[in-house]
Amino acid sequence: MKTRQLGQNGPQVSALALGCMGMSEFYGSRDDGESLATLDLALEKGLNFWDTADIYGPHNNEKLLATALKGRRDQVFLASKFGIVRDANDAKKRGVNGRPEYVKSAIEGSLKRLGTEHLDLYYQHRMDPDVPVEETVGAMADLVKEGKVRFLGLSEVDAQTLARAHKEHPISAVQSEYSLWTRDPEKSVLASCQQLGVAFVAYSPLGRGFLSGAIRSIDDFEADDFRRFNPRFQGENFQRNLALVDAVNDLAKDKGVTPSQLALAWLLAKAEHVIPLFGTKKRRYLLDNIQALDVSLSPQELAAIDEVFPASAVAGSRYSAEVMKLLPQ
Ligand SMILES: NC(=O)c1ccc[n+]([C@@H]2O[C@H](COP(=O)([O-])OP(=O)(O)OC[C@H]3O[C@@H](n4cnc5c(N)ncnc54)[C@H](OP(=O)(O)O)[C@@H]3O)[C@@H](O)[C@H]2O)c1
Repeated sequence: MKTRQLGQNGPQVSALALGCMGMSEFYGSRDDGESLATLDLALEKGLNFWDTADIYGPHNNEKLLATALKGRRDQVFLASKFGIVRDANDAKKRGVNGRPEYVKSAIEGSLKRLGTEHLDLYYQHRMDPDVPVEETVGAMADLVKEGKVRFLGLSEVDAQTLARAHKEHPISAVQSEYSLWTRDPEKSVLASCQQLGVAFVAYSPLGRGFLSGAIRSIDDFEADDFRRFNPRFQGENFQRNLALVDAVNDLAKDKGVTPSQLALAWLLAKAEHVIPLFGTKKRRYLLDNIQALDVSLSPQELAAIDEVFPASAVAGSRYSAEVMKLLPQ
C-alpha cells in the first residue's frame, strides 16, 4: 500500500482512506456481513486509514467498526468526528455544537461505541457559528493532553478559520468534499493546507458514486437514499451531470482504467498532501478503487479531463440550501 503523510508532523497513513458512513446510512440498505468483509479486506490490503463519525447510522456506524477493530485496534489509523447534532425524534433535523463541554462529552460517546481508549484523529465535523473555533480547538487539545486523541482535524472549514485554529493547536487534517464535480477547495483551503503542512482529506471523491458511471437514473437509488433528495441528482441536473460523467468515462476507457480509478487518480495527482476518502460497503468496489494508486496521469491527460469536465460545469449545489448554510462560503 502506498502511503502519504498526515500533515507535516503526522504519521504515514494509507494514501487512500476508507469511508464507512455508507455502511450504515445514506446510500441504501445495510449489509453488515459484506461491510465487515470489506473492512477485513481493507486491512489485508494495507488500507488502514478508516473514517467514521458519531452521527452516522445515526450513532451505530462506530459500533459496526468496533466489531471490525476487535483484537487489532493497533493496525488501524482511526478517525471520527463530532459537532453535528441530530434531533432525537427526527434524525433528518440537524444542529451543530462546538461548545467545550460538548466536545468533552462527545469523545466519551465515540470511545465507548468504538470500544477503544483513543482515536488517532478527531475532527470537528462542522463549525459552530456561535462558538469561536479557538474555544472548540482548545477543548480538543485537552483531549490530546489526556491521551484520548492523537491528532486534530476540521471538516468543511475555510482558510481563515483553519489559520486561527492552527494557532491554537496544530491541525493535522482538513476534511472537505473534493472531486471532479466539487472544486470548491481549489479556491483557497487546499493551498492553505499545503502552506501550513496540513493534510487534505478529500471526501466523496467519487461524487457519492456518480463519477463511477454506474448510476444511470434516479431509480437506481432505494426509496430512502440520501441522493434521491440531493440537488445534483434532480431532473435536468442529473442529465447534465451524466453527460459530463460519460465524457470522463470515455477518457477512462481509452486509458484502460475504470471511471472510479480515473476520478481517484485525478485527486492523487493534485498534490502530495491530498488523501482521497472514498466510501464503499463492497469488497469488489474496494479492490477497484485501490488500483487507482497504480494509475498515473500525464499533464496532457489531466488537461483532457479538465477540458471535458471543467471546474464549474456541475449542475446543482452539493447539499440542500439548509445544509449549505453550515458550509464555508
Ligand atoms: N466530513 C463530512 O462532512 C463528510 C460528508 C460525507 C462523507 N464523509 C466521509 O467520506 C466518506 C466517503 O464519502 P462517500 O461515501 O460519499 O464517497 P464516494 O466514494 O464519493 O461515494 C460512495 C458511493 O460510491 C459507490 N462506489 C464506491 N466505489 C465504487 C466503484 N468502484 N464503482 C461503483 N460505485 C462505487 C459506493 O457504493 P456502495 O455503497 O454500494 O459501496 C457508494 O454508494 C464517507 O464514508 C464518510 O466517512 C464525510
